[in-house]
Amino acid sequence: MKIGILISGRGSNMVALVEAVKSGEIPSSEVAVVVSDKADAAGLTKARERGVETVVVDRRGRTRAEHDAEIISELKGRGVELVCLAGYMRLLSPSFVQAFPNRIINIHPSLLPAFPGLDAQRQAFEAGVKVTGCTVHFVDELLDHGPVILQREVAVRDDDTAKTLAERILEGEHGLYVDALKRIVALSPASGQNRER
Ligand code: GRF
Repeated sequence: MKIGILISGRGSNMVALVEAVKSGEIPSSEVAVVVSDKADAAGLTKARERGVETVVVDRRGRTRAEHDAEIISELKGRGVELVCLAGYMRLLSPSFVQAFPNRIINIHPSLLPAFPGLDAQRQAFEAGVKVTGCTVHFVDELLDHGPVILQREVAVRDDDTAKTLAERILEGEHGLYVDALKRIVALSPASGQNRER
């Protein structure tokens, strides 16, 4: 399966996906491109170091519709079948969601529907919950919303700070995103893994 990954920053989830594809842990797949809406995203270098093509589609100077149309064309031009958002900090337009029906997934650092939006780990920490975690879900037109694929719980420890909690959630995210992608690839007709079913 041809995968496109969208980032805006650090790119640690993107790296987890790229490495799982390269090692064969996620079989029959290729990361065709990493797209960033920010030219200075640290993840771009990490993608290039791993031999993955990168494209910057700067959001500045473009309307949301123009920006999304350009990204769709970069993805479709490379035959991308599944789009993974990995710290991509812009809400997708309805036309973007419709261009890849049920083929866009996202990772979010909370147990959705709790704590959508920015700084979800801090939101959970400040709310005083004892358990939070991370979610991989299909993307619809709403922020951090859409059918849940997988979730992983992370317990909040008595000695946690918002920072230590976020670090533990991030470790969980990397494994969870790989697991979710593995399942999607296994269930996709073209993957060849489910021929006998
Ligand atoms: C992650 O916490 C992810 O869940 C959220 O944004 C952060 C991106 O981190 N959507 P990274 O760029 O993958 O390191």
